[in-house]
Amino acid sequence: MCSVFGYIGKNNCRSYVMEGLQKLEYRGYDSAGFACLDSDDKRLYFSKAKGRLKNLATLLKEKPMDGHIGIGHTRWSVYGKPSQKNAHPHFDCEKRISIVHNGIIENYHSLKEQLTQAGHIFHSETDTETIAHLFESLLVSHKTLKAAVVDLVNQLEGAYAFLCINQDYPDCMIMVRKRSPLCIGIGDDEIFVASDPLAFINQTKKVLFLPDESFAIVKKDLIELYEFSGKPLTPDVQELSIEWQDNQKNEHQHYMLKEIYEQKNVIHATVDFLHAMTDQIWDHLSLTLEQVRKLDKIHLVGCGTSWHAARIAQFYFETICMIPTRVHLASEFRYMPFFPDEDSLYVYISQSGETADTLEALRLVNSMNLPTITVTNVPSSTMVREAGGFLLTQAGQEIAVASTKAFSTQLSALYWLAHRIALEKRIIDSVQMEQAEQDLLVAAEVLENTIENYKRDICQTHAPFYTQFDRVIFLGRHLSYPLAMEAALKLKEISYIFSQCYPAGELKHGPLALVDEKTPVFIFSHSEPLIYQKIVSNAHETKARGGHVVAFAFEGQHELIDLADLSFVVPKVKTLLGPLAMIGIIQFFTYQIAKNLDCPIDKPRNLAKSVTVE
Ligand code: F6R
Repeated sequence: MCSVFGYIGKNNCRSYVMEGLQKLEYRGYDSAGFACLDSDDKRLYFSKAKGRLKNLATLLKEKPMDGHIGIGHTRWSVYGKPSQKNAHPHFDCEKRISIVHNGIIENYHSLKEQLTQAGHIFHSETDTETIAHLFESLLVSHKTLKAAVVDLVNQLEGAYAFLCINQDYPDCMIMVRKRSPLCIGIGDDEIFVASDPLAFINQTKKVLFLPDESFAIVKKDLIELYEFSGKPLTPDVQELSIEWQDNQKNEHQHYMLKEIYEQKNVIHATVDFLHAMTDQIWDHLSLTLEQVRKLDKIHLVGCGTSWHAARIAQFYFETICMIPTRVHLASEFRYMPFFPDEDSLYVYISQSGETADTLEALRLVNSMNLPTITVTNVPSSTMVREAGGFLLTQAGQEIAVASTKAFSTQLSALYWLAHRIALEKRIIDSVQMEQAEQDLLVAAEVLENTIENYKRDICQTHAPFYTQFDRVIFLGRHLSYPLAMEAALKLKEISYIFSQCYPAGELKHGPLALVDEKTPVFIFSHSEPLIYQKIVSNAHETKARGGHVVAFAFEGQHELIDLADLSFVVPKVKTLLGPLAMIGIIQFFTYQIAKNLDCPIDKPRNLAKSVTVE
């Protein structure tokens, strides 16, 4: 999504802004821009470029500008296509006010109509420009800056975080937050502001997370914080202990490959971390022992890959701790009938901890005072701050847009949690708990070894061969159905090959009509004999129609392996950990196909890492 960064202080701003934007660029990257007030003449200067941040850096080298106050932006388009014209910052008619914005102004259309009728001239197709023009008109009708901001924020609908600098107020910056992340870093006579504290954590660890529906009027040594009503708020400044990890690709061509290879270690780290906190786990999750023992329903909520992890984890909670579990797509959850249930636990799964749909689904349940926890990878995220409790995976920062190590650590953490609840409910004993931890480590080993076994063949033969296909069908059953969904998502997002996933049992209810020699069918097996046999039948049905089968099978599944045109065979692990053991080879294979197609794997077209708009 879009990222914003701002600086006001004793130093020149440009290098801080560009460095901050660079750290956040993986989140959205279709255009970028920078604006500052020149230190001498105090006038507004700006530069914008279509495409990656490096294009903006080149422009700024050709036409340098700097000052003690500046803002920058990397964009992921919502309103208006990626272009220089639509790149932020946006301005008022006189180009005195400059705005960078993350989020959506839902009522921008009607506001734009009113402003146009009043004579304002718009230069972009964005919703953001409306903020600048509206602010311009409110500054005329209000006596103070603060009164104009209060009126402004109360007219804007949607979820947004924006920064504003104004030539007429050269020593202050306005920062506004409503349901979109924004935080201020407090230095010595300097203030940083960004969508994510990681962007400035090298400069200061003193951080103020703007409360929801608040705004700040900030000078280099002063922060005035207000509710949207204008009532002053006391800033709650925290000292963060997070560090920016200088995340290099090392010897790898892409972050995705690096992250695929990190999985064994980060699964180990996740298991070690959870093992170490086992005695304090319920305090950590803000749950009482009584609540855990009485738990009779679990709801898992997420989007995309995190939703797939939830779909797999449903089998964990229902099988291991025998608690009926429902899985919800966060984007649908808010609009469905809701039946509050005191003995339920609501678990929000999110790599970033910022995904807008998941966050809103969390807020809905929080507002009913029901127990919520988040399973996430980012300790400084909004979900960690807002959920009743949190369980951190230890994946480390994930840069590639396509999620890999976040998924495998989510599965590990959820598998562990299911066992920990089962232990508390006395369904399993401590020996079985320890065994579960060992089983996770074994699955991690298998994940990595399977990649090693097939690496050469995939790189030399299989990946180049499969680039010829325009579409692929994915099939799975029971546990392997959500795994097949995740595999299909990986292939489509990084290679742009049309990938459609079905529960294998549905094949003859329609999708079989699509099977031909040009449409390979990727089939994901299961280690339970009963389910395996059904999967074999689906492979037969496919072959009988001249289809091409790629099987992801377990050792000893000869019938499926013999039937397939290509098979990847994975050593058997605990049945419920089959998806974890198998995911590495799937990621590696899809990655190599995309690489052979010369796709921009880490930053696929149209996508962004952290989806902070609904
Ligand atoms: C796919 C992918 C996305 C995310 C989804 C949710 O590879 O990364 O589908 O899983 O946008 O993001 P988080 O987990 O940050 O809530």
